[in-house]
Amino acid sequence: MQAILVANPKGGCGKTTLATNLAGYLAGQNQRVMMWDLDRQKSSLDWLALRPANLPAITRLDAERDDVHPKIPESNDWLVLDSPAGMHGKNLAHALKLAHKVIVPVQPSVFDMAASRDFLDRLMEEKIVRKHKAFIGIIGMRVDPRTRAASTLEQFLKQYDLPVLTYLRDTMVYVNAAFNGKSIFDLPHYQAERDLEQWQPLIEWLKT
Ligand SMILES: Nc1ncnc2c1ncn2[C@@H]1O[C@H](COP(=O)(O)OP(=O)(O)O)[C@@H](O)[C@H]1O
Ligand SMILES: [Mg+2]
Repeated sequence: MQAILVANPKGGCGKTTLATNLAGYLAGQNQRVMMWDLDRQKSSLDWLALRPANLPAITRLDAERDDVHPKIPESNDWLVLDSPAGMHGKNLAHALKLAHKVIVPVQPSVFDMAASRDFLDRLMEEKIVRKHKAFIGIIGMRVDPRTRAASTLEQFLKQYDLPVLTYLRDTMVYVNAAFNGKSIFDLPHYQAERDLEQWQPLIEWLKT
């Protein structure tokens, strides 16, 4: 089983959007996927509750947020962890211990980058990351890669030697899909063509 943690201390940067779509993608690939929502707001679980029964199944892990040794059924292929804004300290360390991959959505604004700085500093200091036991992928969220904002983000990330895996555009496709408990991978192809394309580098990275 592989665990993927979606994290960034900034609220509203796209963690739940990424986590739910990631789970939707994996489920659509006939993978057994479980979600663990570490956020008190439980947005991922709300989404899961809306998910139509005829779509590829995603199960939920019912464990306390601070459970250090949650019982994860062995039959799973993937565990997707959604996390709350402001996660740090012990909670972050515990989540990292479980994770094989960490996905960090960052919006390219001054505010978002400033809020991500401490987190990325901390992340790079974690033993598990330094030893290359957990891999970090950055996603430029709600941004067009051809803009100045995108190059500013890349410039900011250079100090960490972290490449931007892909950019996901700002679109109601995500918002509308979520209303129905869907990911973009559950939509007719033509409705999310550009977005499915933008996910490709992230999907390739998952396989590494
Ligand atoms: N790429 C996107 N395009 C349009 N809206 C988005 C996108 N990513 C996130 N959103 C919206 O932004 C808001 C915050 O995103 P969310 O995923 O809940 O962030 P977080 O979990 O980090 O707080 C939500 O209303 C979500 O629908
Ligand atoms: Mg969230």
